[in-house]
Amino acid sequence: MFDRIAHRYDVLNRSLSFGRDVAWRKRLRKHLPTDRELLLVDLATGTADQILFLLDGKAKIREAKGYDLSEGMLALGREKIGKKGLGDVVSLHTGDAMQSPQPDNSADVVTISFGIRNVLDVPTALADMKRALVPGGKLLILECSLPENKLVRKGYLFYFRHILPKLGGLVSGDSYAYNYLNKTVETFPCGEAFCALMREAGFEQVKAEPMTFGVATLYIGVKPEAAA
Ligand SMILES: C[S@@+](CC[C@H](N)C(=O)[O-])C[C@H]1O[C@@H](n2cnc3c(N)ncnc32)[C@H](O)[C@@H]1O
Repeated sequence: MFDRIAHRYDVLNRSLSFGRDVAWRKRLRKHLPTDRELLLVDLATGTADQILFLLDGKAKIREAKGYDLSEGMLALGREKIGKKGLGDVVSLHTGDAMQSPQPDNSADVVTISFGIRNVLDVPTALADMKRALVPGGKLLILECSLPENKLVRKGYLFYFRHILPKLGGLVSGDSYAYNYLNKTVETFPCGEAFCALMREAGFEQVKAEPMTFGVATLYIGVKPEAAA
């Protein structure tokens, strides 16, 4: 499915979120440690949008590795990285977020933006992210969520169920993909329910930061120092 929509993915992301995804990605960036050079792993990296935003901030990223299952998305990502001359710092690879090729205890930060909702087994993916992180390493997850306020939620669900799938379908030529989006968001655990999954996977200092009335949430967790 992502191979099919890859060519329009970036433009649709920006327009269907009314440009808000930029602010969400920058918010994630603020949580990168700045006291050392980082090896950053971005799972379900898609067209590498999140990596490119992260490289534009204050954190010193020594190396960034992106993994994804869609060759179409990765090909576009590689093109963007090539155009920006970032090939020495960023590399994109085929890899499953549930079993990434990243060695144990190697990444200072693992990020996954709008990707965790798509993996088949979330606890397995979270356990694998913990495996890849160094002790004390940070997990940053950005994901769509539903507003808690009932009125806002009602309005948002109308947009989400009736307008977004039509617009997404028209621009991408793939109405299935954008119907899939609203169905997965409506059934995916968010807020405290997702924090509980992170704690069960063994993360500490877990918290959720809802953004834009709760239509997206940033989840933060830390791998315990004692865990190897
Ligand atoms: C909505 S896109 C997000 C792309 C990117 N992270 C961003 O922020 O724009 C979801 C991505 O997850 C990828 N994906 C889905 N399941 C995956 C898995 N198990 N492992 C790795 N990538 C996966 C898809 O191929 C797609 O590129």
